[in-house]
Amino acid sequence: MYAIEINSLTKKFQKLTAVDNISLKVDEGEIFGFLGPNGAGKSTTMMILTTLLKPTSGVALVSGFNVVSQAKKVRENIGYVQQEISVDEYLTGRENLQLQARLNHIPKNQIEKRIDDILELIELSEKQNQAVISYSGGMRKRLDLAGGLLHHPKVLFLDEPTVGLDIQTRRRIWEYIKTIHKEYGMTIFLSTHYMEEADRLCNRIGIIDYGKIQVIDSPQTMKNALGNEVIVFTFENQNEKRDILIDKINEIEFVKEISKKDEQVTVFSSKGTEVIPKIFQLSSNYGIKIKSISLTQPTLDDVFISYTGRELRDDNENYNQRREHAKMMRLK
Ligand SMILES: Nc1ncnc2c1ncn2[C@@H]1O[C@H](COP(=O)(O)OP(=O)(O)OP(=O)(O)O)[C@@H](O)[C@H]1O
Ligand SMILES: [Mg+2]
Repeated sequence: MYAIEINSLTKKFQKLTAVDNISLKVDEGEIFGFLGPNGAGKSTTMMILTTLLKPTSGVALVSGFNVVSQAKKVRENIGYVQQEISVDEYLTGRENLQLQARLNHIPKNQIEKRIDDILELIELSEKQNQAVISYSGGMRKRLDLAGGLLHHPKVLFLDEPTVGLDIQTRRRIWEYIKTIHKEYGMTIFLSTHYMEEADRLCNRIGIIDYGKIQVIDSPQTMKNALGNEVIVFTFENQNEKRDILIDKINEIEFVKEISKKDEQVTVFSSKGTEVIPKIFQLSSNYGIKIKSISLTQPTLDDVFISYTGRELRDDNENYNQRREHAKMMRLK
């Protein structure tokens, strides 16, 4: 049995297709990540899988249960930590967890022990009796994570678990997620628009854009598919032959793929050291000078660009603006 099985799932909001015919399977115990930009359809998919939204068409099973016809069974087997932090600021950490425990129908005689265990796991035992309003963003998120774990779910859904947190806090949360996974061995389905997060945490990743899955694979396989080296260069001067030159570079042996953006050309290759001299030679044939050139390993960023033609920005600035923009683009 799969932990999650999705077949031709589609969700429409009036004219907008937020989730567009996606299919995928997640193994038990796997950490699977949905990687995609604002408005890609990550939260919508997750809300369908957690029974909060009904699909327009298609079928999804979680822990073997149908998310529409067996919604109650699904809810018993899952934990869901939403994109927005949902702890109550005026209660203490412990009181928040007690509330969660009661909402999840945990047997009364087990509640306090489970809370003790989870507080220790997320290292909040010392702060447990303080009001959450005194907690930092990272501590709130950890408490939020703990709330989703109290009933020992088989499948844990984490929607953008570190969005809006600074990089140090984000790294710490990653460590907690790994600890939780090791301790409980549950399946984790998370969504993110941070490359590094997907790369560090996930066994497999699905790149989602405009509601569609572009590719599903392990981060390493995705990176390897691009060749094991990336050459990035910029031109000092250019002429009308630039595009011909780029086509010629694409024909060099060991070049797997090439993309250009403004001044910068990126070449994915399996043997960078052999390709670089040829790039210099070709460009001098066409009277074009190269200003700078570098050789690196491919990152998940490169993978994303190669599948979507766009960059996935790692900043929180203009978050809402980009979200709105993504929406407008989809309505055209
Ligand atoms: N209830 C709704 N009614 C109408 N449109 C919606 C609704 N919920 C989501 N959408 C739209 O569906 C698309 C997908 O949204 P979704 O929230 O699933 O994206 P996301 O990948 O989670 O993005 P983000 O990174 O911004 O959280 C967006 O264009 C969004 O505006
Ligand atoms: Mg979202």
